[in-house]
Order: sequence, then structure tokens, then C-alpha cells
Amino acid sequence: MLDVVVLASGRGSNFAALLGAQQRGELPIRIRALLSDKSAAPALDIARAAGIDAIALAPRDFADRAAFDRALFAHAAQFHPHLIVLAGYMRVIDAAIVNDWHGRMINIHPSLLPKYPGLHTHERAIAAGDATHGASVHFVTAQLDGGPVIAQARIPVLGGDTPDTLAARLLPLEHRLLAASVDAIARRRIALGDNGVEFDGHLLVAPLRLQADGGLRTVG
Ligand code: GAR
Repeated sequence: MLDVVVLASGRGSNFAALLGAQQRGELPIRIRALLSDKSAAPALDIARAAGIDAIALAPRDFADRAAFDRALFAHAAQFHPHLIVLAGYMRVIDAAIVNDWHGRMINIHPSLLPKYPGLHTHERAIAAGDATHGASVHFVTAQLDGGPVIAQARIPVLGGDTPDTLAARLLPLEHRLLAASVDAIARRRIALGDNGVEFDGHLLVAPLRLQADGGLRTVG
């Protein structure tokens, strides 16, 4: 069993998807806690309703980013997680803390990284005239949304798509992408090596691709 701590700032649908998969016995993980930087985050309610520890700290109660992150990740460490999952966690994390969790922290981001790190990814994909959009799960490094990519899900951008319609079509794939990535880490099929992401002991030359059956496959 892989012990997991999830960080979320808002709605928590990716967290709920992981939790649901765990509860159905589909994932060999145990979610130990949900941590947030927003005391009103609906994700906290989802955790509480499931009997999972839910902890919110307010950044304004701390002197600076490093102090906040030290406190938040000290809470996370109390649960001895093998993996920390950023699931809609919208704060930049202090580089020293990120380095402490090197290879043990992943993030889901709503773009085909390295395209569109940061915010407003759906708007940017439409504005650029992209034919394909998607989501990425990556190991977290000190570079914002810049860590080695594990896996991606892709969707076509349709004529008439708005940022909202694109986001709504992508979200269910995000849920499956995150679950499949966490599953592969839990089964020790994925790890961060010195030269990048390793899958079944081989260095990935391109991110894994989410398949229609929910599995991950190598590409290229
Ligand atoms: C998701 O779309 C996730 O990819 C995105 O926030 C949303 C959270 O939704 N994350 C980022 O933009 C991180 N840079 P959720 O709270 O329903 O899981």
C-alpha cells in the first residue's frame, strides 16, 4: 500500500477521483490526509466526509512562503507519505521544500507540458489555435510546472470550444490520468531516475499516453 497525502486548493474533483478509486479497491493506495491553503476549499469537506484527516493552514498566518511551506509540509510528513499529490494545489512551493520531496511529489496540470505552464491554460490553447489540448502529470521540481512529465491525456480542440467547454471535456480525463499515474507509481512501474522518468526500468523518451481503456502506454 502506498501512503499518499493530497494537497488541494479548491473543488477537489481530482482528489475525489483518487479517493473513489481507492474506495472501490482499484488503487493500491491509502490516502492519509488532505491538506489545503484555503480553509473554505470544498476538497476539505470531501475528505472529512470520508473520515480522512483534513488540515488547512492560512498563508497569511506565516511570515513568508518558506515558513508557510515548512509548516504545511511538516503536517504532511506526520503521515509518512510515500507520495504527495498536488491535485489542484494553486500555490508555488518553496524550492527547498520541493527538493526535500524530490521524486516523491507529483502534480496534475491542465496542459500538454511543456506548453502553457502557469495559469489560463485552456484560454491559451484556444488562442494559439491548437488542434490538440490535454493534461499532464509530472514530478514536481523547483521550476514551476517544469518537472519531468510522466503521462499525458489528449483531447481535440473543437470549433466553438470556449475555455469552459474545453476544461469540462478535459476534466474526466484528468481524473483517469491522475489515477493511472498514481497506480503506476504505487506498483513501482514509474520512478524518477537521474536522467528522467523511468517506466518499467527504462528511461521514457516521451510521456506515457492515457488510453481509452484507462491504461498508460509508451509512445514513439
Ligand atoms: C484541475 O484542472 C487541475 O489540473 C488544475 O486545477 C484543477 C483542479 O480541479 N491544476 C492546476 O491548474 C495546477 N497548476 P479540482 O480541484 O476539481 O481537482
